[in-house]
Amino acid sequence: MKHQFKGKRVLVTGGSRGIGAAIVTRFAQGGADVALTYSNSAKRAEDMVELAKNLGVKAIAIQADSADANAVIAAVEHTVSELGGIDILVNNAGVALMAPLEEFTLEDFDKTLAVNVRAVFVATQAASKYMQQGGRIINIGSTNAERMPVAGGGVYAMSKSALQGLVKGLARDLGPRGITINNVQPGPVNTEMNPESSEFAETLKGFMALSRYGTVEEIASMVAYLASTEAGYVTGASLMADGGFSA
Ligand SMILES: NC(=O)c1ccc[n+]([C@@H]2O[C@H](COP(=O)([O-])OP(=O)(O)OC[C@H]3O[C@@H](n4cnc5c(N)ncnc54)[C@H](OP(=O)(O)O)[C@@H]3O)[C@@H](O)[C@H]2O)c1
Repeated sequence: MKHQFKGKRVLVTGGSRGIGAAIVTRFAQGGADVALTYSNSAKRAEDMVELAKNLGVKAIAIQADSADANAVIAAVEHTVSELGGIDILVNNAGVALMAPLEEFTLEDFDKTLAVNVRAVFVATQAASKYMQQGGRIINIGSTNAERMPVAGGGVYAMSKSALQGLVKGLARDLGPRGITINNVQPGPVNTEMNPESSEFAETLKGFMALSRYGTVEEIASMVAYLASTEAGYVTGASLMADGGFSA
């Protein structure tokens, strides 16, 4: 694992905590230089930078609200100027806004689409300009693109289903340049977005073949696979890491 990504330059959106922080750690362990964005958690983002630097790689944190398209573009440009280029983009930042249909606000509808979908497109457009043959784009979707077994999650599910269509189309744009684009679709993973300690967790476990939450490292390892040279023939795909939630 130590030299797997040596010489690669990686940008992970939403890398300050949760799944994104595990992805940043996984790439830094593999020798890649890493940039991460965050929206509010400046201290935790700096802690991640320290962690990566202690693993011997370059690391930077960039405050960039994914709901703001110009901030997303600026984060890509900043990554390229600080790390000298970009080889791997991981679109991880996301929000899970849930409410019953009659209470769901248009503001939350627009925010969900801006962060979970538009920012993925914007970052991909900005980063792919700089990518060479072998470039990799990986989005964190969700098993909810396939199955949303509870009420109140329709808009979140829609945003993650949108990524399935997006990678299919963009794989065609990027394929001729030797760049792949795929989604990783986690099931329930123990983070602040979806704590395993909540009452809701028991309901979710009932939907899974493995009947347990996933770990952030289990998601990061599928991201690492898709970023590797071994995954060179995988593009336009949405791969599950969901404990059989959608099975
Ligand atoms: N946990 C699950 O069960 C699960 C399952 C399937 C898919 N996912 C997906 O996995 C991804 C990561 O989820 P998670 O569970 O790790 O969530 P999390 O614990 O809530 O962490 C979210 C991360 O994204 C950042 N972020 C949130 N909104 C942002 C914005 N507007 N602009 C920039 N950064 C923003 C946060 O930054 P700050 O720290 O600054 O707020 C944080 O680093 C999301 O796309 C989510 O939909 C999660």
